[in-house]
Amino acid sequence: MIKVLFVCLGNICRSPMAEAIFNEMLKEEGLDDQVQVDSAGTSDYEEGNPAHPGTKDRLAQEGISAEGLVSRPLSDEDLEADYIVAMDQSNIDNILAFKDDRPSGEIKKLLAYAGVEDDIADPWYTGNFDVTYDDVVKGCKALLEEIKERHFRN
Ligand code: 4NP
Repeated sequence: MIKVLFVCLGNICRSPMAEAIFNEMLKEEGLDDQVQVDSAGTSDYEEGNPAHPGTKDRLAQEGISAEGLVSRPLSDEDLEADYIVAMDQSNIDNILAFKDDRPSGEIKKLLAYAGVEDDIADPWYTGNFDVTYDDVVKGCKALLEEIKERHFRN
């Protein structure tokens, strides 16, 4: 089983959005039984809370459910994920500080899979869930291609 973990700061806006979108893409590809998706926050600010209403609404517009998305902080076991996918550079810095000198899966920003070093804007601050949604889709499509190329090429 390949494990993908999306990470942001609060785990209520961007990383749960990515989790839901990527799960949907995996289902469409018939890979949902071979790739496991989860998400976490580098903080515990929102621990136990559901996805932000803006994330839920934007997903609902696409017919994607936000059910079961509950914020939780990054844990030691999360370092075992094959792909630890951050939304912005501060997430990367926080993950690396948490990891310290322990081994882990690949740690990269989501849009790096699409060949750009941009951050995914945080709608907690921008209020714009549409821009974030479009960037998350762009990154998730590229990540899916990378995973297919690396693990499912035949
Ligand atoms: P997220 O957005 O990292 O995309 O989930 C945030 C959510 C909550 C907070 C910050 C960012 N907060 O400070 O509580």
